[in-house]
Amino acid sequence: MIIDKEAGIGGKVGGVAVVTGGAQGIGRSICERLITDGHTVVLMDIDGDRARETALELGNGTLGLQCDVANFDQMSQLAAEIEERAGICSRLVANVGWTPDKKFLDTSIEEQDRVIAVNYTGSLNATRLYLPKMQEQGFGRIVYISSDAARVGVAGEAVYAGAKAALIGFAKSLSVEVARVGVTVNVVCPGSTDTELLRNMFNAEQIEKRLKIHPMRRFAKPSDLANAVAFFLNDDADFITGQVLSVNGGMLRAG
Ligand SMILES: NC(=O)c1ccc[n+]([C@@H]2O[C@H](COP(=O)([O-])OP(=O)(O)OC[C@H]3O[C@@H](n4cnc5c(N)ncnc54)[C@H](O)[C@@H]3O)[C@@H](O)[C@H]2O)c1
Repeated sequence: MIIDKEAGIGGKVGGVAVVTGGAQGIGRSICERLITDGHTVVLMDIDGDRARETALELGNGTLGLQCDVANFDQMSQLAAEIEERAGICSRLVANVGWTPDKKFLDTSIEEQDRVIAVNYTGSLNATRLYLPKMQEQGFGRIVYISSDAARVGVAGEAVYAGAKAALIGFAKSLSVEVARVGVTVNVVCPGSTDTELLRNMFNAEQIEKRLKIHPMRRFAKPSDLANAVAFFLNDDADFITGQVLSVNGGMLRAG
């Protein structure tokens, strides 16, 4: 596929979308949806093999690249490569997230630093690299994937919830800074979503318990999240910025 680097900076169809953590789970589903919507997708993931495999499976000129979002130098090199190979990024989905399931005082300083670096600093790193060109072009769409844990708090996820809440504060503030230059910034908060992350965190009994109290008796599918992200990225959401949307089947009704 030949990619026209000048085409599709703004508008519903076309344009380069960068998705962090796109090799699996919610990120992969977001990539699938963005391809359907006509975008050229670049996914990056710390698991390089899986990133390349996913990109091949998704086809349509999708690039799959290895990168740790917490490593600014790696991210910076990759941003230059992406611009060279695919074109200017007009849409950024900062999707990466990770946490061990541990009470705060059982979390080591190293784990604490890593959770903050991956969930918070990593998303700021991506923003620092792709926002300048969006500003220059007068068009950009940024969506951060936070968590309902940030809005209501969850035992065993205190550092993660704090980092994801910081992301919300950052997004709201940034949305005001860039509103006049054509860039919107919004946040999507998944509730429990059926992905590897969830299956690694909870055993079968815990999953059963959670499902029993869920209003819809099911977890989110990754595509439920992808639908919300796609809405914020397309032209129907031009006048929506600085907002936080939970996608959780009514499990939590955060104000
Ligand atoms: N699944 C849920 O129930 C749930 C709930 C609330 C919030 N979330 C959030 O949704 C987002 C996606 O979660 P998911 O369930 O799809 O997770 P997942 O673990 O299935 O997928 C995350 C992807 O990110 C990649 N990744 C992890 N650390 C990275 C790093 N440092 N640099 C680059 N890539 C990295 C992983 O390799 C993986 O491919 C995360 O931000 C997560 O915190 C998920």
